[in-house]
Amino acid sequence: MEPPHSRLHSLPGWPRATERLVLRPAAASDAEATWAYRRLPESSRWVTSAWNDLPDYRRSFTDPAHLRDRLVMESGGTVVGEAVVRLGDAWSQREVAHLAAGTEAELGWSLDPAAGGRGLATEAVSFLLRLCFADLGLRRVHARCFAANEPSWRLMERVGMRRESHLVAGALHRDGTWKDGYAYALLADQWRATQNA
Ligand SMILES: CC(C)(COP(=O)(O)OP(=O)(O)OC[C@H]1O[C@@H](n2cnc3c(N)ncnc32)[C@H](O)[C@@H]1OP(=O)(O)O)[C@@H](O)C(=O)NCCC(=O)NCCS
Repeated sequence: MEPPHSRLHSLPGWPRATERLVLRPAAASDAEATWAYRRLPESSRWVTSAWNDLPDYRRSFTDPAHLRDRLVMESGGTVVGEAVVRLGDAWSQREVAHLAAGTEAELGWSLDPAAGGRGLATEAVSFLLRLCFADLGLRRVHARCFAANEPSWRLMERVGMRRESHLVAGALHRDGTWKDGYAYALLADQWRATQNA
């Protein structure tokens, strides 16, 4: 089943190309290609959701809620990763909630380890920032990671996101231990200033 069109997937111009990648809305037919790296321990260790087997994983890829915020990235015609742009509301007081609605996105990413170490994730997340601020007109993007997931927070720092909080033992890992986490964010004005520099 294909997902209903989300605000993200409804943007014109898909697929979109960066210097080395092509990004497009994820589809149920991407389950096998993404499972090829998602099944690896180094891919699943720090991400929010992990699956034990392909049938289970394939089921998630037929869930519109899983697909609607998701893009896949291809390099040379091969799927090498995914990105998530989860649109949401900023925290606000009730009287102005309508002004805060739909002004933010939480970002996520996953790259096939075989494609790592070449700046492809940096290229993809830089693209996501442009998509969020220039195309979707968002005010703020944010993302979270376990503090121990250094490749992820180094990626956020490479693209100019700012560490805004350090959660001390604030995130529960599936191994049953509470771990430190980081929250990063970037405002549209700050992103624009870097584009004009
Ligand atoms: C987080 C993740 C995407 C980072 O992948 P990555 O390979 O480190 O990131 P990039 O593709 O941007 O590559 C950066 C590396 O390539 C190098 N590089 C080479 N050419 C580059 C270029 N043109 N631009 C930027 N970096 C480049 C960088 O120096 C860096 O190497 P270093 O780590 O030795 O300093 C990856 O580790 C991953 O998918 N992890 C599993 C899923 C996960 O944890 N997701 C996040 C959950 S919060």
